[in-house]
Amino acid sequence: MTQLTFPQGFLWGTATASYQIEGAATEDGRGQSIWDTFSATPGKTWRGQSGAVACDHYHRVDEDIALMASLGVDTYRFSIAWPRIQPDGTGPANPKGLDFYDRLVDKLVAAGIKPMPTLYHWDLPQAFEDRGGWPVRETAERFGDYAAIVGARLSDRVHTWWTLNEPWCSAYLGYGNGHHAPGRTEPAAALAAVHHLNLAHGLAVQSLRAAGAEQVSIVLNPTQCRGEEEAVRVVDGIANRVFFDPILLGRYPADVIERTRHHTDWSFVQEGDLETINQPIDVLGVNYYSPTWLRAKPGEPESDVGPGTIGIETYTPEGLEFTDMGWAVDATGLTDLLVRIQKDYGVPTMITENGAAYPTGPGEDGEVHDDERVAYLRAHIAAVHDAIEAGADVRGYTAWSLMDNFEWAFGYDKRFGIVHVDYATQQRTPKDSAKFYSKVIADNGLTR
Ligand code: FCB
Repeated sequence: MTQLTFPQGFLWGTATASYQIEGAATEDGRGQSIWDTFSATPGKTWRGQSGAVACDHYHRVDEDIALMASLGVDTYRFSIAWPRIQPDGTGPANPKGLDFYDRLVDKLVAAGIKPMPTLYHWDLPQAFEDRGGWPVRETAERFGDYAAIVGARLSDRVHTWWTLNEPWCSAYLGYGNGHHAPGRTEPAAALAAVHHLNLAHGLAVQSLRAAGAEQVSIVLNPTQCRGEEEAVRVVDGIANRVFFDPILLGRYPADVIERTRHHTDWSFVQEGDLETINQPIDVLGVNYYSPTWLRAKPGEPESDVGPGTIGIETYTPEGLEFTDMGWAVDATGLTDLLVRIQKDYGVPTMITENGAAYPTGPGEDGEVHDDERVAYLRAHIAAVHDAIEAGADVRGYTAWSLMDNFEWAFGYDKRFGIVHVDYATQQRTPKDSAKFYSKVIADNGLTR
């Protein structure tokens, strides 16, 4: 057994997102979001479930903060629901919405937990979708206004701001294959959404800095591509470099523009946009669950990985284990990804999400013995340590998720929490993985 110790000051946290946990969907003036609409559309989510009640976190903030404090976390990554702040996306702030997050931030600080809000974790005010959504430039511009409102109120106490969560999902799942809200299947619109999300990030960074924000960044879900070289190069462009390059280098990758010409001429990129997008960021947020394996399959339509992937398919090699999502478990992908980001972009990183869905619930003893999740976390936290040893500047690790919650199109069928939630009673029960994680935090490391 080797003891792996993390650098001093390494931050340990847990993460959630507004629509996945808050509930209180119509309370205190919250407007409608695209996820309310999508969930109410037959056939879009598992058993038609929605986040209308979710973990009822809106009314249980104190209990949930106490839970985090008992685990000993340094930070909490949560998201702010744009429709609580601006119910139809524009105009003055809804005071009750702002107050909710203001109190949350105060309570976190009082509990010794550093707040790390995400401004956008997918709950777009429906009013914007009615006007065209992320494929339309106005959405990005108004996002900058929203960031200014929230920044002015909370920047004095926020440790790190994340502008967007996983714009890959917003663009490609929302407008490409339609698996996520708003459920559109228009490749050209998905690519316009990519650009407007990038632009929204840049505008929000400017607003937050002007409001006195300390650390500002974005959360991406770059996929570690494995398999055949050419397929890897194509998908790395469409899924990863299309975000990395404009944000960190101030340009779009030429091969991606070329590869997607049959969908769009990219004329939505206007003069000055790349300068706006290429704002200095402090630490890149990285979400990681599983790598993607790729190979050529001539004649195949575009793969699920994004527009421009004609003739490529994803596959999973033999011999791997799978989580309840059907995602292959391969922690080496996380090490490789962090080392690659360091090498190609030289930016410090933080793991803003990592975790696994397993269905394990309370046993006869009332405890939740989620050994598979413990093994997953152990392997992936060790993989982060490997990346640090290999030279990557990784600043923290945030487990997804604090508690079981509304897993988007999968509803409540998939459980990612280190704390179990009984949705009938809203009872929270820390799983064995929560106890394991709490010890990792206390020791600032683990054994392998
Ligand atoms: C990520 C999302 C997060 C959660 C996990 C499992 O893509 O950011 O909200 O659904 O996957």
